[in-house]
Amino acid sequence: MPSPHELTELPEMHTAPVARRFSAAAQHYEQAAHIQKQAASLFDAWLADLHLGTPARIAEIGCGTGLLTRLLHARYPDAALLATDLAPAMLEYCRNTLGATSNIQYQVCDGRAACFDPVPDWIVSAMCFQWFDPLLPVLRHHLAQSRVLAFSLMLDGSFLEWRAAHAQLGLLPGLRTCPDYDTLLQACREMGASRIHAQRISLTEQHANGLLFADSLRIIGADQPRPGYQPINLRPVLRQLQNGVHANYEIGFFCIEK
Ligand SMILES: C[S@@+](CC[C@H](N)C(=O)[O-])C[C@H]1O[C@@H](n2cnc3c(N)ncnc32)[C@H](O)[C@@H]1O
Repeated sequence: MPSPHELTELPEMHTAPVARRFSAAAQHYEQAAHIQKQAASLFDAWLADLHLGTPARIAEIGCGTGLLTRLLHARYPDAALLATDLAPAMLEYCRNTLGATSNIQYQVCDGRAACFDPVPDWIVSAMCFQWFDPLLPVLRHHLAQSRVLAFSLMLDGSFLEWRAAHAQLGLLPGLRTCPDYDTLLQACREMGASRIHAQRISLTEQHANGLLFADSLRIIGADQPRPGYQPINLRPVLRQLQNGVHANYEIGFFCIEK
């Protein structure tokens, strides 16, 4: 499958720091990405249960080390699969774990704006679209070039204890704003698709203290703060979380059929 080329019309986003952090994390990502692993497996099973038919061509955005890529390849071994990611080392890890398989290709690209040629039957993505702000132009762009656009992403309401510990001190955390499930679902409905499937799930990971929670994001490379965030002294926040953190991941599964 030829390389995707990229649109230039989508809003400027500073992707270099995101790519750098995920690339730096590639070798350790899977040792720490317990939630992402569970989420990829649940998302793959959810997609299969939708009975969308067997795709001949799939393009994946933000494949990372390949947690979903491997499941897709196992489920649809004859599909031509194009795995893409912004972070070169993530993509390299993905390539190494899948090995030399003639029907899988790899491409470093900004998944917000990629134009796939030939067009895929499905465009899929796991736990990546929360990095895209604004998200809706990206969804419209990809839906225009695929019969099925399916993605999982983190939702508003995640990491409540971390947020609450900041709020009690009158502070705002560096976490990015994630989409609200109902608002996103409504926006998907307004895209003129023929069918929309959506589900929300909640997964929780227990950390012994706040520092280990923050570390868990750093280890997987997901610690680039929201734009405009000014680093603060985290000690008072960590003091509040010294007895443990239930890190709740609110996750949305969406599948838009054109
Ligand atoms: C949390 S990881 C998820 C990786 C994988 N899909 C999984 O489920 O484990 C997010 C991935 O999105 C990628 N990413 C972030 N922004 C991106 C962009 N603009 N275009 C393509 N990939 C991007 C990161 O490099 C990273 O590999």
